[in-house]
Amino acid sequence: MYGEDDEVLKGRGLARKRWVTLQEANVLADVVEEEAPDHIFESGTANGYSTSWLGLLGTPVTTYDIVNRAKVWGERNPAHITCVNEKFSSMVEHAKTVEGKKLFFIDGNHNSSGVKADVEAVLEVIEKGDVIVFHDLNCRAVIRFWHRLAGDEGREVHYKETKYDTQRGMGKLVFKGVGHERKT
Ligand SMILES: C[S@@+](CC[C@H](N)C(=O)[O-])C[C@H]1O[C@@H](n2cnc3c(N)ncnc32)[C@H](O)[C@@H]1O
Repeated sequence: MYGEDDEVLKGRGLARKRWVTLQEANVLADVVEEEAPDHIFESGTANGYSTSWLGLLGTPVTTYDIVNRAKVWGERNPAHITCVNEKFSSMVEHAKTVEGKKLFFIDGNHNSSGVKADVEAVLEVIEKGDVIVFHDLNCRAVIRFWHRLAGDEGREVHYKETKYDTQRGMGKLVFKGVGHERKT
């Protein structure tokens, strides 16, 4: 499953369009290794390609998509991966019950209202030390919200930012915790 290129996936009816590239999938796996979250929430499962890489170390992943597509892993989900056929914003209730460090991967609806809804959902539950990873920073709506969060608009900076030079642009924001201290 891992490392398969577009042609192989296409042959299995799992063609990717704007899914993460192999290089970006490796960045995701590296970020998970570095940050060691206790739980991962993903917006935009699609065929589960990025989900597989997020879950490479066995970290529990809950992934959301409004469309239920065939997955790269076949019929049976790996035990640590839960697919929810709903909007990412429904993550809020679940995330409130999760203990420990959270990582949010935002790769769902890329228009302005879609990114806004995803970011607002994250802001409801984010706590000190939690991490937000964005895919498609090359996309106008996505980079706009990145700048808002990262503080490039003259606001107080609440996040430590790292950008990755990938085909579609990726970045990581670690929440420094102003105003949202972890309860535990
Ligand atoms: C770019 S694809 C995700 C690719 C996937 N992350 C990968 O790299 O393998 C975007 C997905 O977001 C889904 N989507 C659109 N709006 C959504 C929402 N509000 N919540 C969750 N998923 C959404 C679409 O159906 C689509 O499958």
